[in-house]
Amino acid sequence: MNTGKVDVLLGLQWGDEGKGKVVDVLTPRYDVVARFQGGPNAGHTLEFEGQKYVLRSIPSGIFQGGKVNIIGNGVVLAPDLFMGEAKDLEKSGHPLKERLHISKKAHLIMPTHRILDRAYEAAKGKDKVGTTGKGIGPTYTDKISRNGLRVGDILCDFEQKYAAHKDRHMKMLAALGWTDFEGLEETEKLWMEGIAYMKEFKFVDSENEINRLLRESKHILCEGAQGTMLDVDFGSYPFVTSSNTICAGACTGLGIGPNKVGNVYGIMKAYCTRVGSGPFPTELFDETGKTIRDLGHEYGAVTGRERRCGWIDLVQLRYSVMVNGVTELIMMKSDVLDSFETIKACVAYELPDGTETKDSPYEIDNVKPIYKDFRGWKKDMTKCKSQDEFPEEFREYVAFLENYLETRIGIISVRSEEHTSELQSLRRI
Ligand code: IMO
Ligand code: MG
Repeated sequence: MNTGKVDVLLGLQWGDEGKGKVVDVLTPRYDVVARFQGGPNAGHTLEFEGQKYVLRSIPSGIFQGGKVNIIGNGVVLAPDLFMGEAKDLEKSGHPLKERLHISKKAHLIMPTHRILDRAYEAAKGKDKVGTTGKGIGPTYTDKISRNGLRVGDILCDFEQKYAAHKDRHMKMLAALGWTDFEGLEETEKLWMEGIAYMKEFKFVDSENEINRLLRESKHILCEGAQGTMLDVDFGSYPFVTSSNTICAGACTGLGIGPNKVGNVYGIMKAYCTRVGSGPFPTELFDETGKTIRDLGHEYGAVTGRERRCGWIDLVQLRYSVMVNGVTELIMMKSDVLDSFETIKACVAYELPDGTETKDSPYEIDNVKPIYKDFRGWKKDMTKCKSQDEFPEEFREYVAFLENYLETRIGIISVRSEEHTSELQSLRRI
C-alpha cells in the first residue's frame, strides 16, 4: 500500500476470477473502495458474517462501516437494478446512504438500452457476443457517441431528457425491425422509482472527491469488474465488454492521474474460464473440463450460465500482466486442481503458419496451445494451514508461473467453496 496512491485490483482472464472475495479480504486495509467501469454485468460474490452476497454495481467495501464507497464516472448504472441491490443490502442491515457516493458523470442504463442489447445480439445471429443482456454495450455506445444520459441529469429537466433519449432509441429499434416491447411499461415504472430512490444518495464529482481523499493520505482501492480479456481494446474483440477493464480504466473511470497508481493486483484462477461466445485457446471439451466446472462451481453469478473451462493460459496471462502493469499476482481456486494426476499450463501458441510464439497475437481463435505438463499434487490443499504445508509439486507449479510471468504471486487461495469464508484460506507465500 502506498500513501498518496491508489491500488488497483483487477481480473486478468475473462472475468469471474474471484475479485469480490479478494476485495472482501483486502478492504479492512483501505478507507475507500471505488468502482471504475462496468455495471450490472458484473457479479462479485462475497461473504459477510456467514451470509453470501452478489454485488453488481455497488463496491465491495459496503459491508464495513467507516468506509467511503464510490461509483465512479466510468461505471454505467441501471437505477431499477441498483435499487433492488441496494434495498436488499439495507434489508440485511447494511446502511448504504452515507457510505455510498455516486458520480454525477456516471451514465444511466435505460430500459431501451437493454432492448437494444437484445436487438443487436439478435441481429448478429450465430456471431452474437453472448452478452449479459444488461444494456452495457448500447449505454457505452451512447456515451462515446455523445448521446448519453448521466446521473447528473437527474437533477435537472430529467423527464424531458429521458423522453428524448427514449424516442431516439425507439427509432433505432424500428430501423432494426425490433417489435418485442413486452414488459417495457412496467420496467420503465420501476426504473423511474429507481431514479427517485437514487436521489436519496449523495451525487458527487468523484474525481474531485477521490483526489481530495488521496491528498488526505486515505488508502484507496479501485475494484475492477470483468477481466482483461474482456477489455474493449485489448480483449478478444469483438467478444468483449464495452469498457476498459484494464488498469488504465481506473484512471479514466475515476479521474486519477497515472502517476497516482500504486500497486496493481492481478487476479487469476489456477485454471481458466469464460462465459459467452468468443475464442478460448485452452478450452477443454472433455471430462477434465467438466470436472473443473463441477469442482469449481463454475456457473455464472449473474446469468446462471455454465462457464466454459480450460487450463491456465500463460501466454494470455503474460499479456495481461503487461497491459496492466501488474505488480503482484493473486491466484484463486488452486484446490480445484487437487485431484488431478497431471496439470497442464499453456506456455506458447502455435500459429497457423507453424511458428511458435509467447506473444499474444492479433487473432487467438486459430492458435494451438502448447502445453507443459506438471505432476499433480494429489493432496487436499484446503486443509493446509500454513505455507510450508503446501505440497512440493504445487510449489514447483507456483515457482514456474512466477518465473514465466516475471511477477510474484503474493496471495494464494485454496478454498473454492462459495459458502466457506475465504478469510482463513487466503494466505501469502
Ligand atoms: P465479473 O465482474 C464474466 C462477458 C459476457 C459476454 C461479454 C459481453 O463478474 O467478472 P456485456 O453484457 O458486458 O456486454 O457482455 O462479457 N461478461 C462477463 N464475463 N464475468 C463478468 O463480470 C462479465 N461481464 C461481462 O458474458 O461474453
Ligand atoms: Mg461474475
